[in-house]
Amino acid sequence: MKLFTARGKVLLPLFLLVLHQIFSAEANPLSLASAAFSAIALSVSFVYKDQLSCYFAECCGKQWVDFNHTGFKEALAAKVYGQPLIGRLSEAVQEHWNNRHPAKALVLSLHGPTGTGKNYAVRILADHLFKRGGRSRYFHLFSATVHFPHSRLLDTYADQIHEWVRGNVSLCGKSVFVFDEIDKMPHSLLDVLKPFVDYHEHINGIDYRRAIFIFLSNSGSELIMRRMVELKRSGHDRSDTSNMAKFDHLLSEHVYSDNSSALRSSALLQHHLVSRFIPFLPLERDHVIGCIKDYLKASQPAHTGEKDLIDRVLNELPFVPNDERFFSSAGCKRIVDKTLMVLNDS
Ligand SMILES: *[C@@H]1O[C@H](CO)[C@@H](O)[C@H](O)[C@H]1NC(C)=O
Ligand SMILES: *[C@@H]1O[C@H](CO)[C@@H](O)[C@H](O)[C@H]1NC(C)=O
Ligand SMILES: *[C@@H]1O[C@H](CO)[C@@H](O)[C@H](O)[C@H]1NC(C)=O
Repeated sequence: MKLFTARGKVLLPLFLLVLHQIFSAEANPLSLASAAFSAIALSVSFVYKDQLSCYFAECCGKQWVDFNHTGFKEALAAKVYGQPLIGRLSEAVQEHWNNRHPAKALVLSLHGPTGTGKNYAVRILADHLFKRGGRSRYFHLFSATVHFPHSRLLDTYADQIHEWVRGNVSLCGKSVFVFDEIDKMPHSLLDVLKPFVDYHEHINGIDYRRAIFIFLSNSGSELIMRRMVELKRSGHDRSDTSNMAKFDHLLSEHVYSDNSSALRSSALLQHHLVSRFIPFLPLERDHVIGCIKDYLKASQPAHTGEKDLIDRVLNELPFVPNDERFFSSAGCKRIVDKTLMVLNDS
């Protein structure tokens, strides 16, 4: 009988209460009416239980989990500077999202120097997938140096990741798992993900194919940097995407051959389970100026757009290569510290 199942734990006392009200009533119309009312409330809450719980707490339904492609594309274009190839990120998610029965989980590998917006792009993605954004219970961010620091604990970590992915995908198929700094992860730890991202319809009754796995790393940065310096020297602009098109190819080749890359030794690569490699390019002065302006506007409104201040912050940031100083070597990463420092000094 349904009433005695898990949800019956709540319903049974209610049911008994209604019975009690009916039988203990001295057949007075008021208590009969109240019993009838309780009975109706009880059946309504039973039928609409799922909707009710989704109203009060986050659940896997559309009101909490829904991808806003237009919003995501626009936010990326407006907030992440200097990344002409970033449209591939929104395309990939859109394709996967629209496909009700994807053949496998989406696996994205984002590569590039520090401070170029990889983490930022992922946070923006969370904001456009989940109503609660990065605080959603379906969004999981793991950082190698925080969560998996000791290579001797490889087996423990592997068991944990396996359990977490299994447990969370069984709660919501449309879960997102982000692994940051994978180049600092114990090698082969990522192998534990292979069954989840492979072409299986389900594993022990759980379908993993709607989930999204995102890897972030600096691996490939030197290659990206070298190629960008060449392009810049020969007068090419990054907005000319025909020059950029070869990047993902270069990048996937590089990742296969880079011995220090956690991905290289991983079964994910050997079985071609990574759906896309997305390069993040080093930032030029104008991009960094954009980041500084955004920061001032959001956090130091009294100094919004102060040119002198912006110049002084720029002077604090290292640019490479030494002679030409094309690219900020930490991207937009250290602008908050540097701005505060300059403000304190003045
Ligand atoms: C999607 O994002 C756009 C731009 O932020 C916004 O105008 C629109 O209302 C959003 N759509 C939904 C369904 O939330
Ligand atoms: C979901 O993942 C989190 C880590 O993000 C973990 O703490 C939690 O136990 C997982 N939930 C389940 C049901 O496995
Ligand atoms: C990577 O390792 C392979 C053998 O495992 C070796 O032949 C190759 O030279 C190494 N490459 C680099 C760049 O160290």
